[in-house]
Amino acid sequence: MKKLITLLTLILFLSFVANSQPLYQNAEASTEDRIEDLLDRMTLYEKIGQMTQLNITMVNPSWDQGDVILVEEAARDLISNHHIGSFLNGEAVPPQQWFEYMDGLTRIAMEESRLGIPIIYGIDHIHGASYLGESTIFPQNINIGATFNTNHSYQTGWVTAYESADIGHHWNFAPVLDLGVNPIWARFWETYGEDPYLASRMGEAYVHGYQGNEEIAPYKVAATAKHFLGYSDPRSGWDRTPVHIGDQALHEFHRPPFQAALDAGAKTVMLNSGEVNGVPVHASYELVTGLLRNQMGFDGVVLTDWEDIGKLYDFHRVAENYKEATYLAVKAGIDMSMTPTSLQFNEALLELVDEGRITEERIDESVRRILRLKFELGLFENPYPRNDRFDRIGTEESRLKALRAAEESIVLLKNENDVLPLQHPQQILLFGPTANNKRNLSGGWTLSWQGGDEEQYPVNMHTIYTAVKAQYPDADIEVISEIPISGSSDEIQLFFSGLERADMLIYAGGEEPYTEFIGNITDMTLQQNQLDEIAFLTESSTPVTLLMIAGRPRLVTDIIQQVDAFLFAGLPGFEGAEAIANILSGEVIPSGKLPYSYPQHTGHFVNYNHKPTDVYFFDPDVANHIAQGTENTSLFQFGDGLSYTTFEYSNFSLSSSELTVDDSITATVTVTNTGEFDAKKSILWFLSNKVGRYTRPVKELKHFEKIELAAGESAELSFEIIPLKSLAYPDSKGEPILDPGEFNLQVGSLDADFRLVHQ
Ligand code: BGC
Repeated sequence: MKKLITLLTLILFLSFVANSQPLYQNAEASTEDRIEDLLDRMTLYEKIGQMTQLNITMVNPSWDQGDVILVEEAARDLISNHHIGSFLNGEAVPPQQWFEYMDGLTRIAMEESRLGIPIIYGIDHIHGASYLGESTIFPQNINIGATFNTNHSYQTGWVTAYESADIGHHWNFAPVLDLGVNPIWARFWETYGEDPYLASRMGEAYVHGYQGNEEIAPYKVAATAKHFLGYSDPRSGWDRTPVHIGDQALHEFHRPPFQAALDAGAKTVMLNSGEVNGVPVHASYELVTGLLRNQMGFDGVVLTDWEDIGKLYDFHRVAENYKEATYLAVKAGIDMSMTPTSLQFNEALLELVDEGRITEERIDESVRRILRLKFELGLFENPYPRNDRFDRIGTEESRLKALRAAEESIVLLKNENDVLPLQHPQQILLFGPTANNKRNLSGGWTLSWQGGDEEQYPVNMHTIYTAVKAQYPDADIEVISEIPISGSSDEIQLFFSGLERADMLIYAGGEEPYTEFIGNITDMTLQQNQLDEIAFLTESSTPVTLLMIAGRPRLVTDIIQQVDAFLFAGLPGFEGAEAIANILSGEVIPSGKLPYSYPQHTGHFVNYNHKPTDVYFFDPDVANHIAQGTENTSLFQFGDGLSYTTFEYSNFSLSSSELTVDDSITATVTVTNTGEFDAKKSILWFLSNKVGRYTRPVKELKHFEKIELAAGESAELSFEIIPLKSLAYPDSKGEPILDPGEFNLQVGSLDADFRLVHQ
C-alpha cells in the first residue's frame, strides 16, 4: 500500500511537471523572472535569432511592391530553424491583408517554434500609419515643427498607434530626432527643424502620444528614437556622408532631443548609418555604450539601421569582412541587427561566440533587453493581431486632427498689400507641378518608401485644385498646365489677357517625393523651369501667390520680390490641400512659424542659433570686417510667420533682475490680438548668454507655447527661468556649465537683461 501511494505521488508529481506552464509563460510572474527563465532555456543560436531583424522580402522571396503576403515555408524556415525574432517593412495595403500576414507570421512563431517566443514587427509609420491603406496621414515632421504646438506631435503618435496596433505593428521607427540644421540634407523634412529645444518637446510629445495610447489595449507599442546621433549634419549635405561635430556641440545641440525622448520613455533607439568624427556610429563604443548607455542611461533596445553592420565593411571600410563588422558592432553595443536580407549576422555572431571573441554573457545582455521589450509590450499574452476594430482606421475625428495639424503648419512668409486672405474671388488660376497632384503633398515614407504612385492615393483626398474649388464653390477655378514662356508674341499676349481677368494666380511649386539618398541634390535653388514660370506669371498685373510644397527650403531669392504672397506649405499630408485652401480663404488664420532659417544663397547658410562669429563678414563698401546679422544669409528667419491679424506684446517684466543658481526668475508678458480676426499665435521665448566659457549662440529658444486669442483679447504669459534648466549648457564631456554674468531674455520685440550671480 505504501509503495502504491509513493508510486501515485510520483505519477502525480511527474504529470504536474509535464503539464505545468514554464515560468516565462506565466503572466503573473515578474518580468525579470520570466526573462531569466526563458534565457536559461534558450540555445545560443536561439538567442542570436532574437538579435536579428529581417526584411519582409525574406518571408516572401518573390516580393513585389504592393504585396504584403506571407510565404509560410520561408517564414517557417526562418522562425523555426533560425529563430528569427523580428521582421520589418511593407507597403500600404488594406488592414485585412496586414492582419492575415501578421496572423500567419505570428502563428508560426507561437505554435511552431520550440519556445513560442512572439515576433516583434517594425515599420516606418512616421507621419501616421503610412504603410497602411485607408489610414490617417498627418503632415511630416518639418510641418509639425512649424506648428509650435506639441499637441499635434502627440496626436500624430496617438492616432498612429490607434490605427496600427491591431494589425500587429508594435514597433514604429519614429520619432526622428535629428536636427534639421543643413537645409540641403535629403532627410531635412523628417526633422522637427533646426532647434534642439523644439525637437525635444516635439519628440517627447510624440513618444507620450504613441506609447501612451491606452485605447489600443490589450496591445502596447514601442517608439524608436532615431537616428542616434549627429546624422543630420553631413558636410556635403548628402545622406549618410561624413559628419564632423565637436564633442561640445554634439552634447549641446544633438543630444537633447534624444535625451528628452528617452526621458519620456522611448523604448528603443536606432543608430545613425553614417560616421561621426571619423568613426561609423555602428562601430562606436564611445557613442553607443559610452554616451547612450552610460551617460544618458538608456537600457532599452538599440537597433542598427538598414544593413549597417554590412556597411561597416563594404561602405565605411572599417572592417575586413562581415564577421569583423559584426564584432565591431556588437562590441560597440548594438542589441539587434536590421540585417535585413540574409542570415550573415547570425552566422557571423555564432562563430564569434564559438571562437570566444564575444562571450555568451554579452549576447545575454542584448537578449535580455529584447525579451524585456517583448514582455513589456505584452506580446507573450497578446501576440496575435485582431480584425474586429478596423472602424478605428481613418475616422473623421482622426482626419480632423490631421487637418488641424496641417492648418497650423503652413507658414505665411510674405503677404504684400494683404493680397491674402482672398475673399469672394470670381476666378483663380492654378499653375505648377502640385496644382492638381496628391503625392507631392505627403512626401516620402507615404504608402511606400519613395511615396506611392499617384493612383494609389485615396480617391477622396483633395489636391490643391479640388480643395480650392470646394472652398470657393461660386468661383471659376482652373488649372493651367501650359505656360507659353517661349511662345509667339501673339500666344503670350493672349495668355496674359487671360490672366488679367483672374483675381489671383497661384503657383504650387516645389519638389516631388523622395526618401533618403534618392533626395540628394547639388543645388538648393528651386528648379529653373519653375523659377522661370513664376517670374513669367509675375509679369501680369494679377497678384501671384507662391506655394512651396517641398521637404526643404528650395531657394526662391531671385523671384521673391516679384511674388505678392509666399507660403511655405512643406509636406502637409493627406489633409494638406484642404488646409491650404482654408488659409487662402481666411477660414483659417495662418499661425505656422518657420522651424528653421530659410537660406538666401546657395553658398552660405547659418542656423538662427549660430555663434556671433558665424556671420563675420567682409563688406567692401564699408571696407571693414563687420559682423552682420543673419539678414545677409537667411531670406526668412527661424520663427518667422505672418498672420492675417496683428499682435502686440506689452507689460514685459521679470520678477527679479538677479538670481543665484538655486533661485528662479519668472518673466511675464501680455500678448494682445490687436487685429480683426480670432487667431492662434505661438509665443517664443529666447535667451542669450552674453559671456560664456564656451562661445555662446547669439540666442536660443528656451520655451514656447501656442495660444488662441479672439480679436481684441489679451493673455498674460509667463516663463520661469530655472538656471540648471534654462541657463546651463554642457561642456565637451556633457557636464553642465553655468556662467555667472549677464543674460538677455527676449519675447516678441521686447527684451530684458538679468544677472546670474554666485551665492
Ligand atoms: C532608414 C531608417 C528606416 C529603416 C527601415 C533605413 O534606410 O534610414 O530611417 O527606419 O530604413 O525602413
